[in-house]
Amino acid sequence: MIAGINWPPPLEGARAAANEAYAEPLAWLASAHKEQLALCDSMEAIADSLPGEIDREICAYAARMLAPMLRHFHAGEERIVFDWVEQRFGDDPSARASLERLKFEHCEDECFAEELTEMLDRLGTADHTVNPETAGYMLRGFFTGLRRHVSFEQECLRGIVARQAHEPN
Ligand SMILES: [Fe+2]
Repeated sequence: MIAGINWPPPLEGARAAANEAYAEPLAWLASAHKEQLALCDSMEAIADSLPGEIDREICAYAARMLAPMLRHFHAGEERIVFDWVEQRFGDDPSARASLERLKFEHCEDECFAEELTEMLDRLGTADHTVNPETAGYMLRGFFTGLRRHVSFEQECLRGIVARQAHEPN
């Protein structure tokens, strides 16, 4: 059932959150992750609606929003959170390696989002050459990967902060 999709607020909400939460990067990250998980839920709802219950308008909207929204969250994470981690924990080689891996995953997910945008756009315009199985496979690959990234990012950053908090100065 796709009617209940509750898209996360687009850029304005996240931007406002960014402004007020510079002092609390991990709180900002938690908020950004919550919105990305809502995005995953929306993609899952589209996948579940294939092929018979597809809502073309939702797909067209998703095609417009997906890539800019993801780029916005990634840019915020790297500017607000990763820079903060680097400033405080940059002498920890494993922290730097984790940040590099997370940035690489951001690039991968953004590339995937671009490919998915094309597919969503085709679904939105009722392109009957779209194979529903392929579309479902792409959608599931995307939201599964993004959920995994969010979980890994939380674990990594909490780990870095906790490790430093327990080490003597
Ligand atoms: Fe991330």
